Amino acid sequence: MAEPLSPGLTLELEPEERRQLTELAAAHAEAATGLQAHAFFREAPVLAQHLPHRLRAALTGMRQHEDAAFALVTGLPVDDEAIGATPDTWRDPAAIRRTDRYESQLALVGSVFGELFGWNTQQGGAVIHDVLPMREFENTQINFASQEPIWWHTEDAFHSHRPDYVGLLCLRNPQRAATTVSCAADWDLSDPKYDLLFEERFRHRPDESHADAAEPVKPRALLTGDRARPFVCVDPYFLEQPAAPAVAAVLRDFYAVVDAALQQVVLAPGDILVVDNHRAVHGRKPFQANYDGRDRWLKRMSVSRDLRRSWPARTTGTRQILDGNDH
Ligand SMILES: [Fe+2]
Repeated sequence: MAEPLSPGLTLELEPEERRQLTELAAAHAEAATGLQAHAFFREAPVLAQHLPHRLRAALTGMRQHEDAAFALVTGLPVDDEAIGATPDTWRDPAAIRRTDRYESQLALVGSVFGELFGWNTQQGGAVIHDVLPMREFENTQINFASQEPIWWHTEDAFHSHRPDYVGLLCLRNPQRAATTVSCAADWDLSDPKYDLLFEERFRHRPDESHADAAEPVKPRALLTGDRARPFVCVDPYFLEQPAAPAVAAVLRDFYAVVDAALQQVVLAPGDILVVDNHRAVHGRKPFQANYDGRDRWLKRMSVSRDLRRSWPARTTGTRQILDGNDH
């Protein structure tokens, strides 16, 4: 990392910690045999208890005290040859098999924060997602895009059961595309005009990564909680534009405040970035995809601190797959 990150935490794993994590992940991947969802979920929180103490302490501190809005864990090795070519589509079975231990690494880290989950409207209900460029989505606002920046956003802002944390593991990033993060603690919202962002008057459409998810019915506040360190839920690209010019003007000013605090994190192979989805927004700078099997490839997870709260969105299949239609 070129510059210190604030208010985030960075943890570089020591060789022994690296060994512990990779061995646990290999054991997890073997127990789950890649495709057995039940074993995947059962084993991850159990094995996560054996993660290096320093790592668990740092991540647990972030969860408990909410002082850091993101964590960057570095130092894990990625076997570039063994993971093979970046696939040209998500959830390619052969590509999943080649990368299952990395998916397990991410799941173990995520399990320190809570429970991993997926959506029935996203990547076929998968809990670990592939983030890679696909030519047909080049200029969209989803994870298969490349040419367009992904504007900063709250993950799944439209849904009442949006994740508490979003995690990324980088397999490769030769274009050095930057992930962006802006933390609510860095925003000066002392002007009383921002009061209206705390009112339940805003509606988000489902973002384009959710196939056919229904429009949510309830308006929500964009900010909640403590004025100085608010919780945030906003995705400007999918937010219904307010009709009143005065409200639109406040929104524009708010976006400028968030923009001004935007930090860039260039993920390198083996880096894991976990963003608090209530304390920070995230996005990505544009990059040039080559579609040559060497493009940027990340794994992504969504984590709930308490999946029990999401029972109204539970699907019949498994506890970990939620209904993207927010009723
Ligand atoms: Fe996102």
